[in-house]
Amino acid sequence: MNKKFGVKILGTGLYFPKKVLTNADLAKMVDTSDEWIRTRTGIKERRISERNETASDLAYMASSEALKSSNISPEQIDLILVATITPDMFFPSTACLLQKKLGINSIAAFDLSAACSGFIYGIATAKAFISSGFYKTVLLVGSETLSKITDWNDRNTCVLFGDGAGAMILSASEESDDVLSVYLGADGSYSDLLFMPGGGSANPTTIETVNQNFHTMKMQGKDVFKAAVPKMALAAQKALELSGKKLEDINLFIPHQANMRIIEAVAKKLDISMDRVFVNIHKTGNISSATTITALDEAIKTGRVKRGDLVEMVAFGGGFTWGASVVRI
Ligand code: UT7
Repeated sequence: MNKKFGVKILGTGLYFPKKVLTNADLAKMVDTSDEWIRTRTGIKERRISERNETASDLAYMASSEALKSSNISPEQIDLILVATITPDMFFPSTACLLQKKLGINSIAAFDLSAACSGFIYGIATAKAFISSGFYKTVLLVGSETLSKITDWNDRNTCVLFGDGAGAMILSASEESDDVLSVYLGADGSYSDLLFMPGGGSANPTTIETVNQNFHTMKMQGKDVFKAAVPKMALAAQKALELSGKKLEDINLFIPHQANMRIIEAVAKKLDISMDRVFVNIHKTGNISSATTITALDEAIKTGRVKRGDLVEMVAFGGGFTWGASVVRI
């Protein structure tokens, strides 16, 4: 295991649940309006999973597409990593449930929890395992059913989130390294600004925790906004430095899609024009760990980027966590 390997990105895939929830639908549920949501966030609609549709179901669909686009069979994978904050259940991991759905036995599988930065943390983890020679081919998935931990009576949060999954297959290469850099950060002292209080060891599920509405996301939106902009700009700059590339070498920037105003503020801070920034928040809302990978897959499918292009992904989320990565797709 002394040899160092590069990482080749073989392919990507995504899946969105069929059901669309529009701003007009939300205006019938809480005191809000299409105008407020569009102008304050950029979101027009989001996808919502069915009652019986789980994070591993969405992950399975996205993974199947990624396997097809990579032209490999499930048996060639030797590690499954799933980034999620909405696992099917506490345990077994969503990665194990996905493994079962894919019909692959006896390979390593585990979940990773870094909220909206989960996919970037996943790229770092996959790269570390591949470059050290531990594993050859990694299926990395970001999958979320945030609608299931959303308080549908709270207009401050329920208009923001959606469901979806994205997948990437990364494999060992002796010739090239498509993951040029990854930069990660976290600060747990802000853990009470974006969190879900119930269900864990702090507040195990009881009738009281249900009555106190502890099982849905709580967010201090303004404070999160204020922290997100500088941290995303910092992460993007650090990952760029580590990659040895210049701003003008990057073909497309893919920021976490939490709020259009955050995306614009980060672009302004980095001095990047918006035509070099990928945006799909209007259709998806914020899908946490699935955001950057679904955006990347869409950018590839719609021809915004082509094989060989350089993409920088950057994210920020609960924890707080943040991170960025420069990849060649
Ligand atoms: O994924 C990473 C984590 N998430 C984020 O990065 C999200 C970060 N935060 C944000 O995107 C924004 O802070 C929000 C979109 C959540 C809120 O936007 P804001 O401009 O910070 O609004 P605000 O919270 O200051 O609220 C302004 C007003 C308030 O009314 P008053 O107190 O001024 O009368 C809110 O009650 O807007 C009201 N408001 C709404 N009105 C209509 C809040 N939500 C809504 C709503 N519809 N859905």
